[in-house]
Amino acid sequence: MNVVTIALESLAATTALGAAIGTSLHPGDRVLLSGDLGSGKTTLARAIGVALHAEPELTSPTFIYVAEHRGDLPIWHVDAYRLPVGTDALRAGVIDERQEQGVTLIEWPEHLGGLDGEEPGTLRVLLAAVEPDGARSATISGARPGLRAVLATTFGLSEGDRG
Ligand SMILES: Nc1ncnc2c1ncn2[C@@H]1O[C@H](COP(=O)(O)OP(=O)(O)OP(=O)(O)O)[C@@H](O)[C@H]1O
Ligand SMILES: [Mg+2]
Repeated sequence: MNVVTIALESLAATTALGAAIGTSLHPGDRVLLSGDLGSGKTTLARAIGVALHAEPELTSPTFIYVAEHRGDLPIWHVDAYRLPVGTDALRAGVIDERQEQGVTLIEWPEHLGGLDGEEPGTLRVLLAAVEPDGARSATISGARPGLRAVLATTFGLSEGDRG
């Protein structure tokens, strides 16, 4: 288990985190994006999409539960906010076997049942607002060594910052 918390002082830092995550993803990977309303989940998902050259650009899929995008890898962007807590992800059609070919970004994963957050290839990001209109923090678990190394370089983590 590896956990690191980084400070996202600005939107630019969130974009940099998205780039680091996006370029680290492999086919079949899932990114679980957690955090309160407005904490920056969609902002980070969009930045991951930019890194993967997503077409069309990721937006907030508020009235649909899953949107599919082309890119360096196929990208599925799920927003489970409006699904009742405990909804079975597979039955609801927000996860399926095609996603083995690409990456799946899931906002509000805690509304879904049948998702194993500990699975290899699952990255968990918990966003929190430090200030309403600015700084955020991101607590990241399940990162592969390559992503951890990039985060250490980009965000200047020292060994002591790592969980
Ligand atoms: N450092 C930051 N990182 C991310 N977003 C930031 C930051 N600073 C300000 N913001 C702003 O916070 C808002 C975050 O909204 P966003 O839609 O990404 O949140 P969300 O977690 O997806 O919300 P929801 O739960 O409603 O889907 C955006 O307007 C964004 O511009
Ligand atoms: Mg959102």
